[in-house]
Amino acid sequence: MEEQLPKIKLEELRIEIISPIHETSNFKSYEPELVDFLIEDALDNQQKKISTTYLWFHKPTNELAGYVTVLADAINLQGELKEYFRQAGIFYRSLPALKIGRLCVSDDYLGRGIGTLMIEFAIILAEKIGKDIGLRFITTDAKRNPDPRKDSIHFYKKFGFEILKQREKGTIPLYKDLIKK
Ligand SMILES: CC(C)(COP(=O)(O)OP(=O)(O)OC[C@H]1O[C@@H](n2cnc3c(N)ncnc32)[C@H](O)[C@@H]1OP(=O)(O)O)[C@@H](O)C(=O)NCCC(=O)NCCS
Repeated sequence: MEEQLPKIKLEELRIEIISPIHETSNFKSYEPELVDFLIEDALDNQQKKISTTYLWFHKPTNELAGYVTVLADAINLQGELKEYFRQAGIFYRSLPALKIGRLCVSDDYLGRGIGTLMIEFAIILAEKIGKDIGLRFITTDAKRNPDPRKDSIHFYKKFGFEILKQREKGTIPLYKDLIKK
């Protein structure tokens, strides 16, 4: 049996926007693409105003425990979703969203509640931005994994994300309606 470590509280974490002072090269994840993005692209994308990456440090150890990258997005209304909004009197072709471009917890900190805190953070951020500009959804492209313990679609569904489009291969686009609680 694997030992269950206690959940990490928000007060034990320090959130910083990535900058040239940050050292990310030791970050470890079973998803190599998410390590490569952090080390090679996160800062560059931020400097080009393509996305913003929030680094999450575990205060007691000062280790980088995870990161979440966000950017502006829109959902093209199609199929059932288009019908749903038409019924509600909304006839636009697309609606605004905040996208979770990347979200990753370090292998050393998995299962300690940081992923949950990062989703809650994205929801709070979306609600905050949504006071200044229209913002209806949170979107993401979830990675599939043959190992059900590593399949992030189940993780996102826990927080009310729904499948936008089923795809045979690659990532699955998901969305969460900020009005549907
Ligand atoms: C998915 C991920 C972010 C979860 O982070 P975490 O900090 O381990 O998650 P938490 O500890 O907050 O777990 C929250 C709940 O989700 C469950 N869970 C965690 N990872 C899961 C996964 N991959 N699939 C299904 N459920 C998962 C946990 O069992 C927990 O359930 P509980 O509340 O019933 O105990 C993390 O596994 C990760 O970074 N994976 C690699 C990158 C990735 O897949 N990112 C998302 C797509 S870009």
